[in-house]
Amino acid sequence: VVHSIPSLLAELHAAAPVIGPSLLASDFANLEAEIRRVEAAGARLLHLDIMDGHFVPNLSFGLPVVEAVRRVTQLPLDVHLMISEPEQYVQRFRAAGADLLTIHVEAVPEPRPLLQKIRALGAAAGLSLNPPTPVSALQPYLDACDQVLVMSVMPGFGGQPFDPVALDKLRQLRQLAPQLLLAVDGGINAETIGSTVRAGANLLVAGTALFSHADYTQRMGELRAAARSNGDVRGPGSSDK
Ligand code: DX5
Ligand code: ZN
Repeated sequence: VVHSIPSLLAELHAAAPVIGPSLLASDFANLEAEIRRVEAAGARLLHLDIMDGHFVPNLSFGLPVVEAVRRVTQLPLDVHLMISEPEQYVQRFRAAGADLLTIHVEAVPEPRPLLQKIRALGAAAGLSLNPPTPVSALQPYLDACDQVLVMSVMPGFGGQPFDPVALDKLRQLRQLAPQLLLAVDGGINAETIGSTVRAGANLLVAGTALFSHADYTQRMGELRAAARSNGDVRGPGSSDK
């Protein structure tokens, strides 16, 4: 499957706000069936969390799983590298089928050459920042980014509560780089998703909130509706102005 970077980014921007299912919360014993179910629910990409037990205090899965996912779906693969020394691995993750490759600004002394390498490999280049890291840490590299992934939890585990520190960063980044694919990851659910979209996010990564539900189509619909809502939780019919 070949997704050219410009057409992939244009498609995602046109479809925004986009929900990105994080397979970390899926049933690994039935991964192909899980992918079919999120495809049927209208997913436009899959978010794959790579953890090395070093950059983050947990392990998830690596290259063979990305390759296996690539074999069973045409959806773009958004690969989130929560690993030290990402420069040692980007080429192999690209070869395994990654369409978007996101590295952490905290994992490298100088992200620019690696972002350029990711683009040269034919993938979209993403840069992520942890909750304690300020936007100023990645501001010099925004021109080399196709995507910025704002973490709204400390990476390493699914199912953590949303940290609102992400909202101010989303607003800053949206102002600094209006053209950016701006993603947010961690604790996204029907209650938190609307505030992130209003702050400027257009790609909302969701693990637990989606996969903990029996009906992914219904839950995707609920998340999309909440993403598009204007924040008025009173619903139609309330007119106490
Ligand atoms: C966290 C990962 C996330 C995680 C999100 O380290 O980067 O992508 O899967 O999971 P939820 O949606 O459960 O917070
Ligand atoms: Zn992630």
